[in-house]
Amino acid sequence: MEHFSYKDNNLLVEDASVASIAEKYGTPCFIYSKAALEQNYQAYEKAFEGHSHLICYAVKANSNLAVLNVLSKLGAGFDIVSGGELDRVIAAGGDPKKVTFSGLGKTTQEIYKALDTGIHCFNIESEAELLRINEIAVNNSQVAPISIRVNPDVNAETHPYISTGLKENKFGISMGKAIELYLHATEMKGICIKGLDFHIGSQLTSIRPILDALDRILTLNEQLISRDVIIEHINIGGGLGVTYENEMPPTPIELVSAVKEKLHGIDLKIVVEPGRSIAANAGILVTKVEYLKNNEEKNFAIIDGAMNDLIRPALYGAWQKIVPVKKAAGNENTTYDIVGPICESADALGKNRSLNINAGDLLAIKSAGAYGFVMSSNYNTRPRAPEIMISGSETHLVRERETVSDLFQNEYLLPG
Ligand code: LLP
Repeated sequence: MEHFSYKDNNLLVEDASVASIAEKYGTPCFIYSKAALEQNYQAYEKAFEGHSHLICYAVKANSNLAVLNVLSKLGAGFDIVSGGELDRVIAAGGDPKKVTFSGLGKTTQEIYKALDTGIHCFNIESEAELLRINEIAVNNSQVAPISIRVNPDVNAETHPYISTGLKENKFGISMGKAIELYLHATEMKGICIKGLDFHIGSQLTSIRPILDALDRILTLNEQLISRDVIIEHINIGGGLGVTYENEMPPTPIELVSAVKEKLHGIDLKIVVEPGRSIAANAGILVTKVEYLKNNEEKNFAIIDGAMNDLIRPALYGAWQKIVPVKKAAGNENTTYDIVGPICESADALGKNRSLNINAGDLLAIKSAGAYGFVMSSNYNTRPRAPEIMISGSETHLVRERETVSDLFQNEYLLPG
């Protein structure tokens, strides 16, 4: 079902008018569709039907408490990368027993906290980390459930900044070293081996690299079995892409069916860590055109949203669709660069976009539900935008707009 649609040329999120929301909460603002989040999550649930599984939503994609709460009510687990994300999951009513802890720099404090809350699994990224977790667990008379994140050395064919499964990347443990580390782990009193883990990158538009990685991981599993190391689950990470422009990413059912087929006859629970494919197309960023400007070479639409609100275009050269909130009559389009007010040439949210707009009009930047608000900053002392969740025709403010005084409340003048 389409959760972002036009009625009488006015953009709606579910049954709520974007123009009215912008009027009430101001711009820029993020708007999420609860039904879209639910539908995207349920697509994974349906795909797994009949197979033991755990869907751990990658909190980093969008960590708003209301988003986590909606997903936890559907039974979701969570993939976290910090103690802060664990606190968010708990505050949102999530079940810590369904939490996987990824990330390569887990601190001592974070490990204590995760052990105390009884998480499902630590995804181990180095021998040093395994040793630290064992030591903490032994000191606390606890046993830490772990899987080792293996780097399968496959090319995920995505943007280099979000590709993680090549030997040159900082992530995971090489195939060669993994067996040795598993054997070492069997001797550690504070460690209980639960699974095998990999995550090769994000915004994947083909499942082939994931299946190539899985082949390698299953070979590794056979080598482990022959050494009496028995695992319960295989974690295939996140990474399914979404349609920003005209990509045709695989669906959860395509991915999961192919994975199940490869596992045929092997009794392993499947863990997944999707972020973008659940949240990205459940959200938009709404912004107002402040000025139109022409500098001979180009036309610019200067908007009140900027790279601090949505950094993906500036950081990765990402393309996100930009549409008018109210479609204008006629089709006298002009080509604009859609730029923010920040003093950086990279501060554009879209380039060469053909639009029929005037100063004062509202624009919606689509696919902004994942890696949008969470990557926003206060650069140029710009308060972060509010987040609003729509359910049918109901509008819920789920995060207030920051105020400028919020931004410097923890700063101090020198004495005297
Ligand atoms: N699991 C691990 C270990 C990860 O590192 C990530 C994402 C995920 C799961 C979730 O991946 P997803 O399903 O969302 O692709 N800021 C970038 C994306 C960074 C992804 C980092 N890791 C962007 O805006 O494109």
